[in-house]
Amino acid sequence: MRKKITIPDVLNMKPEGHRISMLTSYDYPFTRIMDAAGVDVILVGDSVGVVVAGHDTTLPVTMDEMLYHVKAVRRADPKALVVADMPFMSCQAGVEEACRNCGRMIKEGGAEAVKIEGGMNMAHIIRAVSQIDIPVMGHIGLTPQSVHRMGGYKVQGRKEQAERIMEDAYAVQNSGAFAVVLEGIPAKLAAEITAELSIPTIGIGAGPGCDGQVLVIHDILGLCEKYSPKFVKRYTDLGPIISEAVQRYVAEVKSGEFPTGAHSFS
Ligand code: KIV
Repeated sequence: MRKKITIPDVLNMKPEGHRISMLTSYDYPFTRIMDAAGVDVILVGDSVGVVVAGHDTTLPVTMDEMLYHVKAVRRADPKALVVADMPFMSCQAGVEEACRNCGRMIKEGGAEAVKIEGGMNMAHIIRAVSQIDIPVMGHIGLTPQSVHRMGGYKVQGRKEQAERIMEDAYAVQNSGAFAVVLEGIPAKLAAEITAELSIPTIGIGAGPGCDGQVLVIHDILGLCEKYSPKFVKRYTDLGPIISEAVQRYVAEVKSGEFPTGAHSFS
């Protein structure tokens, strides 16, 4: 049986040259399956708002909704490190509120770390939360909670913007984060940031030069028809498999083929 993955394990993976695998999960059955399959880090992402709840952005996701999903993931007792995503406006209004909300993810949800979007602008929050011993994963580049400022989900850090993203990366590391997600930035810039930082970088749409990779589970399983960004690799297509099972069930109920005596109580 594999051992529990801790924050020091994740930190050591970079110098030891072991690449970090991270996936999102939002519930008990998916967590059990992906944990048994050996993923290192499970992110209870606020992407749940898009891929599960059907919103167009992650902005409407609430603390209570996130806590519900973090608790469901926790109940699967994964060996993977569990990171809870901090939803929009759970950390932005001030240090005290941010500490309280991050604390709820650990204390009530059972998460082992939190993820906070933002770079230099959120450095004071990352510092305060880290200082109360809540491990923080940063998230810079294309930060989905900044969709309105960015004018859509656009690659960040091209040309003269690159310097700002590098400054964000340093700000996150210097504030005490144990790792940082690099989303939607040019591969060359992501590789440069990875070489500069001592903490691990985890890429999504940031090329092969990061210390690890993260994707949304619904994207790799073919369960999200709405968006298909270039950086997603679909490892299977569960849509038609689910559809075929449901069609057979409906047909058998209609024809009387299901249920039989084998599915009945005497
Ligand atoms: O919410 C999420 O799933 C994320 C990852 C895609 C990094 O933030």
